[in-house]
Amino acid sequence: MISESSIEQLLNIVAIEDVVGDYVNIKRSGSRFKGSCPFHDEKTASFILTPSMGIYKCFGCQKAGNSVGFLMEIEQYSYVEALKALASKYNFELEETFDGTKEEYEAGRLKKQNQQVAMNYALQHFMTNLWDKEEGKAIGQSYFKQRGYSTAIIKKWQLGFASDSWTNLYAAVKKDKYDLETFADVGLLRKKENEEFYDWYRNRVIFPIHSVSGNVIAFAGRILGTKSDKEPKYVNSPETELYHKSNVLFGMYQAKTAIKKAEKVYLVEGYTDVISLAQAGVENVVASSGTALTEGQIRLIKRFTNNITVLYDGDAAGQKASERGIDIILEAGLNVRVVAFPEGEDPDSYCQKLGPEKFAEFLNENEQNFIYFKARSLFEEAVLKDPILKAERIKDILVSVSKIPDGIKRNALMFELSRICEIDEAILTTELNKLTKKSNFDKQKTISEELRLITNQAGVVMPKEPLTDEWQEKALFKLLLEHADKSFVGDTTVFQTVLSEFSNDPELMFTNEVIGLIFHELNEMDVPDWPGQKYYVNHSDSNISQLAIQLLNKNYTLSEHFADNHIYVLDENSNFRHELVSVVLHLRRKKLDNLIRNKISELEKSDVDVEYILEHISYLNEAKLRIANELGGTVYQI
Ligand code: CTP
Ligand code: MN
Repeated sequence: MISESSIEQLLNIVAIEDVVGDYVNIKRSGSRFKGSCPFHDEKTASFILTPSMGIYKCFGCQKAGNSVGFLMEIEQYSYVEALKALASKYNFELEETFDGTKEEYEAGRLKKQNQQVAMNYALQHFMTNLWDKEEGKAIGQSYFKQRGYSTAIIKKWQLGFASDSWTNLYAAVKKDKYDLETFADVGLLRKKENEEFYDWYRNRVIFPIHSVSGNVIAFAGRILGTKSDKEPKYVNSPETELYHKSNVLFGMYQAKTAIKKAEKVYLVEGYTDVISLAQAGVENVVASSGTALTEGQIRLIKRFTNNITVLYDGDAAGQKASERGIDIILEAGLNVRVVAFPEGEDPDSYCQKLGPEKFAEFLNENEQNFIYFKARSLFEEAVLKDPILKAERIKDILVSVSKIPDGIKRNALMFELSRICEIDEAILTTELNKLTKKSNFDKQKTISEELRLITNQAGVVMPKEPLTDEWQEKALFKLLLEHADKSFVGDTTVFQTVLSEFSNDPELMFTNEVIGLIFHELNEMDVPDWPGQKYYVNHSDSNISQLAIQLLNKNYTLSEHFADNHIYVLDENSNFRHELVSVVLHLRRKKLDNLIRNKISELEKSDVDVEYILEHISYLNEAKLRIANELGGTVYQI
């Protein structure tokens, strides 16, 4: 703990213009300073420093704060890290409070300092081995090259090589007269009682592990080639004063700016996954180093983003293990998305296989909310056949949902879940409430109260009634009435797009009879041409003309669904293309529902190929899930 009085003293000597001046080109303007804001793109200088108050404020993006806040924002430092950086800039000694004696505190600080010296020394040693020594060039460099790592990436990640020797590092440390015991404390050297020290990392490539602020605090040494029975695949640093494994994520130092910028982090399992992805341009990636994610690691992530996308290995074991991780991430209030890899592939292998562009595409196209990922298991053959198993799986998903602290998010997911598994939302909610640990939530605030609070905020509107298929159908017709002649993609108009989607489609029965009639009429036309708004307003069938008039007058609006907070915001400039895609997807999902229902009723007949039909159902369900997932980004607003 840094003492309050010492923080106050430090802030008294800090000048905001000195601190900001290291990052921004500032000019004096009267008693203030002006510059371009480093936190958003701008042409005018709306970033103002007020030295008398020690603060900065940007009138463009509204960011504001003091020197500590500035460093936290720009360097992604924690509060303490920012204070320490300021102290070192001004050569100021921060007074840290400590429970033990002053001597103990000093001894601890010194020990930590010495450990850092040892780590830095070893880092240089391993890098020199890799770049300047024949053995390292021949073995280490070719290992990395064969894994597809570029020279730039090897240097950026400060990768190294440990010689095939028991004394390589030891001899160097001894020659340079460093404290051998310290090297043993941090796991670089070992010794048996009454014997000489020896190197602990031998004949391995070295992956340094950095603290968030960039110090090397641990090493992982990987054996060359495939794993052997005698040797572990990785030799890792022990817990030390510098390295508390459960609070560290591999790659966070290199990734933090990219994470902040992308507003999300990809979580992988291994060191090699992180480096391959970073090389392919996916820089917002960190690894949990093969262990289950800890709360400390989640806290670390939360400093940079609330959005975490877990990349799963393609093997079943990997998926099961990481599925458990989902719950603790949800509990921390983070938004969890998932990308599952094909069987036998991990992020590293698949990224190398596809290459950067295809891989980025793969990530974007396969990212899904955890609920859809978990729901896949509902459509496995065994589960389809066994209602009890299905109930268990649904319960498993509900357990995950119950971990989410935010009632609004829980609510939105329950809505989706009820559609996915076709169970009434009220029933699911009753089950959820049984699971919900009261302590998790703010008991005073029920979900409906939260809804009311949000509804009362200006510009934010919640859906007033359940969203029905019928509404989607009307929305489709309204889109035609208003935008039919506009281009949808290239030369294709909205009308042509809609028609090709819904023409001659016996599976898609419209719930609303009038809409059904309208489409029937359109499908009967020899040369499909948009009849025009007037045609419908003056239609001889008064049901059709009434509906057209009603829709044209009614302010139906679709709105962006903010996945982050699940708050429904009325979007005045809503984009009709976006709306059209959403409506079409919804209706496609309905069509799939019909198909699935038909298939299920086929199962009841005798003399059918049950296996084949089940397989078909499972295929349809997957297609439905994919659509549901795409829809995750959109809701409808009346
Ligand atoms: N791990 C470890 N010790 C081991 C095996 C694994 O610490 N003996 C951790 C490492 O952090 C490793 C991660 O678990 O990065 C994932 O393991 P694995 O997939 O086996 O290793 P990769 O790093 O992916 O190595 P490679 O791609 O070379 O197989
Ligand atoms: Mn791997």
